[in-house]
Amino acid sequence: MDQIVNDLHFLVENACELPTNIFGYGIWSHHIKPMIPLGQKLAEEYGADKEIVTIAILLHDLVSIEDEKNYKEHHTIGAERAEKILNGYNYPRDRIERIKLCIQNHRSSVNNNKNSIEEICVADADAIIHLTEISSLFYAAYKEMNKSIEEGQKWIKGKIEKDYKKLSERSREKYRNEFCVIIALLETE
Ligand SMILES: [Fe+2]
Ligand SMILES: [Fe+2]
Repeated sequence: MDQIVNDLHFLVENACELPTNIFGYGIWSHHIKPMIPLGQKLAEEYGADKEIVTIAILLHDLVSIEDEKNYKEHHTIGAERAEKILNGYNYPRDRIERIKLCIQNHRSSVNNNKNSIEEICVADADAIIHLTEISSLFYAAYKEMNKSIEEGQKWIKGKIEKDYKKLSERSREKYRNEFCVIIALLETE
């Protein structure tokens, strides 16, 4: 496990450093990297397989980082890519399938068919990370999208509310306080 995880760390961080990555290095430093301990914490609490959650998190957005043309279908293309990578390690077939499902179903906006607890941990971590790394949303709104103060505030609030709705019931319960504080801060009137 350690070898694969180390290699994948290296592979994904490298892809994030390339100029072809339209999201910038922040998708590693403020999205994928902090999602790993968060996903592992959820896995521990919810009784999920930590290794599956970790590998799926590392690979969940890789193909759109490598090529922006993959963005729209990155859940599906990403699952195929994960299979190829993991086959190269002779990783167990059944575990590859479980990782593929985590990647395939990580976008609750596209597909809300999560069946396993690992799929829930990955999708929840993908949304919760916006609460805990909220500065990256400010960066996106004001620096990348050039929004006015009001527009940016509205956009971030909308995004947080959408993310919160997508969470599993237990994560919604667990992060209720953080959510309420952030929403109160972003209230416009
Ligand atoms: Fe994604
Ligand atoms: Fe993501």
